[in-house]
Formats: sequence, C-alpha cells, structure tokens
Amino acid sequence: MNTQALMDTARALVADDKGLLAMDESNPTCNKRFAKLGIPQTVKARRSYRELIVTTPALGECISGAILYDETIRQQKKDGTPFVKVITDAGIIPGIKVDTGAKDMAAHPGEKITEGLDGLRDRLKEYSQMGARFAKWRAVIAVGDGIPSRGCLEANAQALARYATLCQEAGLVPVVEPEVLMDGEHALERCREVTEEVLHTVFHQLYTQRVMLEGIILKPNMVLPGLTCPKQEAVDEVADATVKCLLRAVPAAVPGIAFLSGGQSGELASARLNAMNVRFKSRLPWQLAFSFARAIQQPALEIWKGKEANVLPAQQALVHRAKCNRAARRGEYSAAMERGVGTL
Ligand code: G3H
Repeated sequence: MNTQALMDTARALVADDKGLLAMDESNPTCNKRFAKLGIPQTVKARRSYRELIVTTPALGECISGAILYDETIRQQKKDGTPFVKVITDAGIIPGIKVDTGAKDMAAHPGEKITEGLDGLRDRLKEYSQMGARFAKWRAVIAVGDGIPSRGCLEANAQALARYATLCQEAGLVPVVEPEVLMDGEHALERCREVTEEVLHTVFHQLYTQRVMLEGIILKPNMVLPGLTCPKQEAVDEVADATVKCLLRAVPAAVPGIAFLSGGQSGELASARLNAMNVRFKSRLPWQLAFSFARAIQQPALEIWKGKEANVLPAQQALVHRAKCNRAARRGEYSAAMERGVGTL
C-alpha cells in the first residue's frame, strides 16, 4: 500500500475549495430520472448526458473529482476520446462507484444492506488500470419505528470497512458513504442521534479493519429533519447540529468530509454547506466539502431534456451549481448568486 499516494489523493479531493461531482447513478436510477423528463432510457441517451457533463467548460475550476459508474468509465465522447481522458485533461480526478446496490436485508424489515464485496479485489484492479484513483460505496440507513437496528448498522459498517481496506490495498482512496435517509417524519434531533450512532459504528469498524484514516474521504448526510417533519429548522440550526454531530464522531485524522445532498434542493444544499463553513471552518480538523449528485446535476438535466440544442444552457446550469458550491466551501455563497449576481 502506498500510504503517501493515498494521503495525497485524499487531500487533493478536498483541496482548493473544490468538491466532488457524483455522476455515478446506476442505470436503473439514471433511467428513472430520465423517464420523469421524457428522456429515452437508452445507453445512447445516458452516454450523451454524461458527455454533456464531462465536457462542461471550466468544470475543473470547482470540481476536484468525478464519480463514474461502470458503464460510464468505459464510454467515450462521440469523437472517440475516453471519458476518463476528458476528465483527467480537465484537471478532475476520476473515481468509480463500486458497490452493487442496497438490497433488502434478511430478517430486517424496512432495512437495506449494500452488496458488492464478492470479486471486489479484481474489479478494483481493473478500475485502477482504467485510471480511477478513488472509489465510492454507499450504505443506506432508514429512520423509522424501531429502525435502524444494530444488526443493520453493524453489517453495513463492516461492509464499508472491508471495501475501504480493499480500496487502499489497490491504491484507491475509499469514499465512505453511510447515508441516513431524509425520508420520514422524524425530527432533526432524531437524525442527529442516528447519524452519530452510524458514524461511531462506521469508525469503529474502519479502525478494526485497519483502514488508514488519513487516506479516506467521509461522505455523510447533513443532519436534517425528515422530509415530512412539520418542523423544518433554519439553515444555521442545521449547520450547528451537523457540525456538532461530526465533531463527536469523526476522527481528526480524516482529511475531508464531502456531504451527499440526499434530495435537498441545490440552493438549500449550498446554503447549508455555506453556513457550516462560515460558522466553523477555522475551528475544524477536516475540510468540509461536497460530493453532490442531484444538488449539482438536477437543473442541468431538466434543461437538457435529451435535446442536443439544450446542451450549452444545461452546461451553464451545471457549472453554476458547481461554482455556488465552491463559494459555499469558502463561506462566500449567497442567495444573490442564484440570480446571477455576485462574483462566482
Ligand atoms: O450516493 C449518492 C450520490 O453519490 C450522492 O447523490 O447528492 O443526489 O444524494 P445525492
């Protein structure tokens, strides 16, 4: 294991106020999002959309790394240039989603366990040869009556840790993503309590499985009230609860925390990340960054709608969200930026 190279890659992923772009939707998830907008659910359409993303001018000024899906890492631009080369030439580090999805967990109604460990060592070797320098694995934790259970938390945490050691052995930085879902009526405090327990469980397993913490990125949820909770706290309260929770559970050796967006709007995700950096940045042991999919891509996808004529405005929308999030890392994001005012 090349410890120095892993630490360098992990630091590079959260350097210069940039963040990650998650463009690793599985084919079924990507198809679902296309279907809602009347876009054909074909390999051709998915390839065109991913070409739109990777060729967006100036994306590398705000994005440090792009997480690809198995189909995408093997694809090329229309002119035959591999996507991995396009990304690398733009100064963006290629990454790859390596879990094979969250499946119903036996004897645990309403809970999921993420699969993908079988054959992972060989797949990581192949992805590394294709140019990937980091990887992602997502565990999904639902909040509800009597859940999450200890069985679900421990099984998912152990899988995340086993994935992370295999990644480091292969020279890839593991992005460790335990996502506490927003679905439900639960209050912010319940999300904080669950997130704290999840993170303690995950870091215990990472330690037990000998993961080098300086060579990972943590990708957690923000601490939020459930989507249908009647009380929706203000941006600053979310920022305080999130940072307080992370300070209790995430070791200082971890170089960066890159949040998932989880279904928040792009504007809210930027505002909340901004508030965390405004209020706490100078006092934190790790960088607070982003690793958003929907909160960066959604406006672009809605503009594109599968039509060649819409590529340019869609790319402008994509880079706008990326710039807003870079500003949020600096604590310089404001609602005015959404009206095209201010320095992006
Ligand atoms: O695994 C989930 C993605 O990488 C992040 O997606 O920002 O839409 O939650 P999201």
